[in-house]
Amino acid sequence: MIVKNIFGTTADGRAVDCYTLKNSSGMAVDIITYGATINSIYAADKDGVFADVLAGFDTIDGHENHSDYEGMTVGRYANRIANGKFSIDGIEYEVEKNEKGITCLHGGAELSTAVWKAIIIDDNSLEMSYTSPDGAMGFPGKVDFRVVFTLHEDNALKIEYNAVSDKKTVINMTNHAYFNLAGKGDVLGHELMINADAYTPIDENSIPTGEIRPVEGTPFDFRQSKAIGRDIAADDEQIKIGRGYDHNFCLNDGDGPAAVAYDPESGRVLEVFTDLCGVQLYTGNFLDGTITGKKGNPLIQHAGFCLETQYYPNTPNMPEFPQCTFDAGEKFKSCTVFKFSVK
Ligand code: BGC
Repeated sequence: MIVKNIFGTTADGRAVDCYTLKNSSGMAVDIITYGATINSIYAADKDGVFADVLAGFDTIDGHENHSDYEGMTVGRYANRIANGKFSIDGIEYEVEKNEKGITCLHGGAELSTAVWKAIIIDDNSLEMSYTSPDGAMGFPGKVDFRVVFTLHEDNALKIEYNAVSDKKTVINMTNHAYFNLAGKGDVLGHELMINADAYTPIDENSIPTGEIRPVEGTPFDFRQSKAIGRDIAADDEQIKIGRGYDHNFCLNDGDGPAAVAYDPESGRVLEVFTDLCGVQLYTGNFLDGTITGKKGNPLIQHAGFCLETQYYPNTPNMPEFPQCTFDAGEKFKSCTVFKFSVK
């Protein structure tokens, strides 16, 4: 079942709607048209009690003025592009340097601040679309973006990303939900598994150095599930740069989940499946409690963790990484599933 409600109005007068997807076991997902944002996910705990497992905002003002991309669809190039510069076929492009005037972060936030057009496809699926003009934020090509959210009966939320450009361009899309399976407090006690033998270390601007470093013997080894907080303050140069985890993991091939998170207290489990090669684990390190989130509660450090499925960061400047440059007319397509259960 999908129900539409009014969510609010942006400061510049754009109407924002909220679509609630609900399945027969009672799981519900609120998606708002501002940023094609997953605003809330209500999932049951081991006793059948539902809680909102996303940290974020319950007002449009929160999303517009205080956001760190909570729940948003991010693009057209998720993560960072070094110095806001890259070349395609010998043409240099300069894109928005929205992070400290140095890097382009999350495509200059274009997709996450746009009001998307929503179409209810059927009882379980909602389509959001947005067209980014040629040259938006400095990127080449007019791109038609389409994201389809489907809530399945087995409590899996599937996100299908589609995009096509009229010029050769770079496309990297993700969702920036901050999960908190307890629905409160911080996530340091959550256990996390990431199916990655390696990760991409970063420099002081959070740009990958190019090294693919084995996780073995480092705080980045999540191959066996461990508490997020266990090594988050380890004496490690990479942990210090990120003030915790803010790194891309190089996912191993295979059909199983890319990541599994578990909150021992509530019993809630989140499995993440993706066809992409990377995932950014970001543990809300830069949240500091100064911003008010849902129900008036401060967004404290580590209030949520993000598993941003993606191509590795800065690909157009890193030819050795798997590439996400697409020809005119070539289709970008990817799929990520967030599946909830209890144990
Ligand atoms: C980045 C973080 C950033 C956060 C919110 C993440 O994807 O890797 O460094 O603070 O987004 O902007």
